[in-house]
Amino acid sequence: MIVVIANQKGGVGKTTTAINLSAACANQGKRVLLLDLDPQGNSSLSFVDTNVINSSAFELFTELQQPWENFIYSTKIKRLDIVPSKINLAKLETKLVGDFDAIFRLKDRLEKIRANYDLIFIDTPPTLGLITVNALVAATQVLIPIQSSYFALEGTDDLLETIEKVRSRPNPDLDLLGVLVTLFDKRTALSKEVEAHIRKVFGEKTFKTIITRSVRLEESPAHKEAIFSFAPNSSGAVEYEKLSKEVLERVQKGFAVRHQNAA
Ligand SMILES: Nc1ncnc2c1ncn2[C@@H]1O[C@H](COP(=O)(O)OP(=O)(O)O)[C@@H](O)[C@H]1O
Ligand SMILES: [Mg+2]
Repeated sequence: MIVVIANQKGGVGKTTTAINLSAACANQGKRVLLLDLDPQGNSSLSFVDTNVINSSAFELFTELQQPWENFIYSTKIKRLDIVPSKINLAKLETKLVGDFDAIFRLKDRLEKIRANYDLIFIDTPPTLGLITVNALVAATQVLIPIQSSYFALEGTDDLLETIEKVRSRPNPDLDLLGVLVTLFDKRTALSKEVEAHIRKVFGEKTFKTIITRSVRLEESPAHKEAIFSFAPNSSGAVEYEKLSKEVLERVQKGFAVRHQNAA
């Protein structure tokens, strides 16, 4: 199953979720691939030394003769591999413009490798451009992190509309895996109001687990670690582990439904 983490707003916790959810699922015995599709490469920074990166996400899209082994980097975490990204990924749209299969590039590329992993997570840039659309076309499910702040739901209509468009043609089986409340501030009434609002709008699709604001989560990337080794007893570690269980349960259900439909 391929889960894309998307929200075209920046700073809502996509990368933090991609890093820690990937690590949590690997810790629970799943073979996980994290595909970093943000040209900023923040997910990559936590797991690989950028100096050793040769082939990265850009070449995955553009140099189709390169074998998969070139793109896969192992991490310190057992069972977790990553396809890193570099700033050259920002040139992808100009590179692929006019290409008739541009939105199918990633889907086609992943065909060869997807069976090697139980789960593939995709971190996306804060836009709804060609990179995010490629991820949505390739994915089986979408996870939407939403920051519990005043303008939380601003922009989600555009995202949901894009998901609908992808569903209507290139990827009819794309499911909404869930909506995750992030950067929750226990001390403010506003955070609670926003959480209640998100739950009202998305109902059961909202994950029970919410991710609270925590300095430890903010610090861990600078130490090139996921939260579980950096601060195993922190709220972030507990919450992302809880989230991973909910995610695995929902992914499993999605898998069963797909199997049933295919049979
Ligand atoms: N739960 C959290 N508590 C504290 N800081 C967080 C939390 N989640 C994310 N951050 C910080 O907020 C910033 C934006 O988060 P990030 O995951 O990079 O968002 P995005 O990928 O959506 O742009 C980063 O500096 C990150 O470390
Ligand atoms: Mg990011």
